[in-house]
Amino acid sequence: MMADKLVLGIHGSPHREGNTAFALRHALAVLEQEGIRTQYIALADLQIAPCEGSFACRSGTCVHDDDMGSVCDALRACDGLILASPVYMGMVTGQLKVMMDRTVLFRAGSRFELSGKVGAGIACGGFRNGGQELTLQNMQTFFLQQDMYALADGPRYSHSGATIVGRAADDELGLQTVANLARRMAAAVRERR
Ligand SMILES: Cc1cc2nc3c(=O)[nH]c(=O)nc-3n(C[C@H](O)[C@H](O)[C@H](O)COP(=O)(O)O)c2cc1C
Repeated sequence: MMADKLVLGIHGSPHREGNTAFALRHALAVLEQEGIRTQYIALADLQIAPCEGSFACRSGTCVHDDDMGSVCDALRACDGLILASPVYMGMVTGQLKVMMDRTVLFRAGSRFELSGKVGAGIACGGFRNGGQELTLQNMQTFFLQQDMYALADGPRYSHSGATIVGRAADDELGLQTVANLARRMAAAVRERR
């Protein structure tokens, strides 16, 4: 049932209402128009400690008791995941990287809890060729390591994901890639059983 599908958007910027928030909200609005339920999580609102590499999660429990628990619940519940990050030094933000590292518990041992979910990325940079593609590849590597599927932004342009250059509200072409990505995500989660 289409209405049962849920796409989670995780916002990785420290700016609660900056360019990345604008782009991710645009994607989620398109998904809602497509009849897909959405959830928005802003990492700036959460306290998430970096992974300590103890692999305590192999026995089922992370050493940290922080806001990552609610992110894990949302990741388990979603059918599709959109990661959205500003480009920081050519890559995802530290906030998003810390969140991605903490999801190692989903693949600890032989289980892959996020297996088969669909992922897609939005990268917002200040400059053209500022590292948006590498930032999207950071996200795609994460999806593949979680045994998820990684989506392109789909026709009409179909590259590595959605990219914004400069002020999101002014980047008409960039917002088209965001909307295309959202429609591609809607089609992909509908196809999932
Ligand atoms: C620490 C830092 C590093 C940045 N590195 C890059 C970069 O490598 N390439 C780029 O295009 N923009 C870079 N920027 C600019 C941001 O990606 C850009 O302003 C983005 O739109 C910010 O998104 P936000 O408003 O959602 O925070 C950097 C900004 C900061 C603060």
